[in-house]
Amino acid sequence: MKTIEIKTDIFWVGAIDWAVRDFHGYVTPNGTTYNNYLIMDEQITLLDTVKYDFSHITIDNIKQLTDPSKILNLVINHIEPDHASSIDKIMSFAPDATIYITEKGKKGLDRHFDTSKWKFKTVKTGDILNTGKYNLHFIETPMLHWPDSMMTYIKEAKLLISQDAFGQHIATSSRFDDEFIECASHAELEDSVVDYYANILMPFGELIKTKIADIQKLGIEIDMIAPDHGIIWRKAPGEIIQKYLDLANGKASLSIAVIYDTMWHSTELMTLPIMHGIKDEGVDCKVIKLRATPISVAIKEFWKSRGCLIGSPTLNNILYPSVAEFLTHLKGLRPKNRVIGAFGSYGWGGGAVKEAYEEFKKMKLEVFEPGMQVLYKPSVEDNKNCYNFGREFAKKVKEYHVKFI
Ligand code: FEO
Repeated sequence: MKTIEIKTDIFWVGAIDWAVRDFHGYVTPNGTTYNNYLIMDEQITLLDTVKYDFSHITIDNIKQLTDPSKILNLVINHIEPDHASSIDKIMSFAPDATIYITEKGKKGLDRHFDTSKWKFKTVKTGDILNTGKYNLHFIETPMLHWPDSMMTYIKEAKLLISQDAFGQHIATSSRFDDEFIECASHAELEDSVVDYYANILMPFGELIKTKIADIQKLGIEIDMIAPDHGIIWRKAPGEIIQKYLDLANGKASLSIAVIYDTMWHSTELMTLPIMHGIKDEGVDCKVIKLRATPISVAIKEFWKSRGCLIGSPTLNNILYPSVAEFLTHLKGLRPKNRVIGAFGSYGWGGGAVKEAYEEFKKMKLEVFEPGMQVLYKPSVEDNKNCYNFGREFAKKVKEYHVKFI
């Protein structure tokens, strides 16, 4: 692999994972990258490692620039295995290097490796590592998205190494946003940012706002943001910061995601008049069948839309399993600023719609009641009711959406 100089004497030495399609259960149809960076200064310093399977690639990349035994400092911004599982490989080349890490990061590493043989310096916000011409300022970002997380700002290069924040799961030969947009598209890049945010960072919106405000208060100049996944932001780093603020503030399109599953097609039949009702109210609508769609894609579509209708048949008096699984994922992501309602078919006792509302009430969402239920199969009358249900739901979503304009 070719190393890329992203700033004077600062090189991308990471790996491209073209093949990964399941990233701890999150689908990655476009693969990903594990970005890490080598500073060829008086003190040679490596920022982060890569997923273990790719350790030979980052080591080969480092060898193009220096003998890895000359690495004096290893900064670990985040200990999740996609960034930290090659530490022992790196340290086998540079056993005398000092590892710079947060206190929580050190405690986490102690659980993964025999760390007794390595030198550590635990750091906190405000600490600085001088490597020669560069000063690396550490900024703790706990729970963005792990307790150990931090970022590293290289002042003289105006470069923020942001670890997972501002990342995307895209495997591409382009390293920078402007290159990627030129050969792919802005829309594809934006979709990947939303996908990543929705599935990984959604629970941390308030923290993101606070941390961005803290960074802005420091008055630091940033002309490049280099995350640990995907492309590097050099064309307009301010735009990705604003995009994160928008996402954290609950920005969404005036649209509705109808997310459902079905047994004998009755719940599926309900989606059609519901969709017509929504559309006739002037709101865009996307219908997503869970059994045909990875959960992480459904989560992204949920987050892009101001409203969501969940459709589930009743099975054994409770939610259909795929719908229950989706709601479990959603609840863990602590969604906010969205309107939600439910519909579904049943054969005798019912129960799915009731259980869906019980789940909604545990989340901080605007709940639209009552839900819509159909016995066995929708009749002509039921179809009219479904249409009206879709219209009424869309009216509610339009009213609610005004708050965010
Ligand atoms: Fe890309 Fe939280 O690891």
